Amino acid sequence: MGKTATLIIDGKSYEFPIIEGTEGDNAIDISSLRARTGFITYDPGFANTSVCKSSITFMDGEKGILRYRGIPIEDLAEHSTFVETSYLLIMGHLPTRSELNRFSVRLNDHSLVHEDMRHFFENFPRRAHPMGILSSMVTALREFYRGVLEEEENLEITFARLLSKVRTMAAMSYKISRGHKVVYPRHDLTYCANFLNMMFDSPVRPYTIDPDIVRALEVFWILHADHEQNCSTAAVRLVGSARVNIYAAISAGICALWGPLHGGANQAVVEMLQQIYDSGGDPMPFIERAKDKSDPFRLMGFGHRVYKTYDPRAKIMKKVCDKVLAKLGRKDPLLDVAQRLEEMAIKDPYFIDHNLYPNVDFYSGIVLRAIGIPLNMFTVMFAIGRLPGWISQWKEGRYDPDWKLYRPRQVYVGDREREYVYIDER
Ligand code: ACO
Repeated sequence: MGKTATLIIDGKSYEFPIIEGTEGDNAIDISSLRARTGFITYDPGFANTSVCKSSITFMDGEKGILRYRGIPIEDLAEHSTFVETSYLLIMGHLPTRSELNRFSVRLNDHSLVHEDMRHFFENFPRRAHPMGILSSMVTALREFYRGVLEEEENLEITFARLLSKVRTMAAMSYKISRGHKVVYPRHDLTYCANFLNMMFDSPVRPYTIDPDIVRALEVFWILHADHEQNCSTAAVRLVGSARVNIYAAISAGICALWGPLHGGANQAVVEMLQQIYDSGGDPMPFIERAKDKSDPFRLMGFGHRVYKTYDPRAKIMKKVCDKVLAKLGRKDPLLDVAQRLEEMAIKDPYFIDHNLYPNVDFYSGIVLRAIGIPLNMFTVMFAIGRLPGWISQWKEGRYDPDWKLYRPRQVYVGDREREYVYIDER
């Protein structure tokens, strides 16, 4: 028999099995807790709860480690492409050359968006947030591709379709929001170059593809590709557990990502840096506000539920940021503000005591800004990057016999039973 944990309630002992992870993250299996003891657990935000066994991503928040399918994020950021990393996450292994070619052909074959969908794009109000547009359009995709959806033999096509079309739709929504002509995907361009071209090419100003900018985008997307059971991924698994179609599950992930505590943080960081800059450039009053418990303000881009040290992605993103700015020969005053803020915050006892370090969003906003991505598209950029992660987590759930309908419990703290009082007697 494997290891067990003993729980004693009112002098009575109960043994629960311990599940051992390959990297030492062990869990007490309490799935029989309520049936055996009548008790449930209380764990707001699921901070101590694992809802699945997963072999996709490993992270160690204390040591600052992140690996996809066992491969360190640093190696992927150095050597891989976003398409190859997506394949690794979804299929579970690094592709051979022929597997990668086949996958790339699939991405090209499924890159166009049904022309009838253009009407939807055109009818959103001009000021609509691209995340709202994207989540609606991803749900709508399912209705255009019914029948070739989730049958086993079509799964790879469905995954390619999602990866390719979400990228096209993101660029389309930007063009349409500006009243510009939509640029179609090109078969001769790589996944990332294609996106940049669809975003920035125009009949009056043809876009020149710069391999260094393409590489910066590759790395940005690789860094965001998966992050185990984060809020949006948990949303995909939760909605997917009802056995809804994959498009609806992914759309739920997009909605969750939109929030400023999650993917929306990259937009919020730049807004905060701008605020600091506009107020004279001194970060100290903002640091003081973030420490003040009576003020809801937080330093955006700082802190993480799991990382209690430097986010390894933030380190890589910072290097990308320096490279992109040097390449473009640009000085971004917000980068100076960011550097000052980081230096001050990481020395501050409050941030040290609370283990608050810059997360990936802290520098990614500056990179996106330098590439020319508009502020309200930042979270969409994150969504495109996280897509392979959501797909691989959904796929893992699909083959997991333990993927039960998510149905948490609650501790009810409301009124006990009381009488209904007629309206005139209240
Ligand atoms: N600024 C100031 N204080 C902070 C911050 C911050 N950014 N983050 C956490 N804290 C403090 C809290 O006030 C709390 O203090 P207390 O214990 O004295 O009351 C303590 O640190 C713990 O905070 P929680 O909110 O309980 O920690 P949690 O793990 O739930 O928070 C989160 C993680 C939501 C990311 C938080 O750090 C935050 O709001 N950061 C800013 C938003 C952000 O950058 N989000 C991106 C996350 S990365 C991603 O999704 C890609």
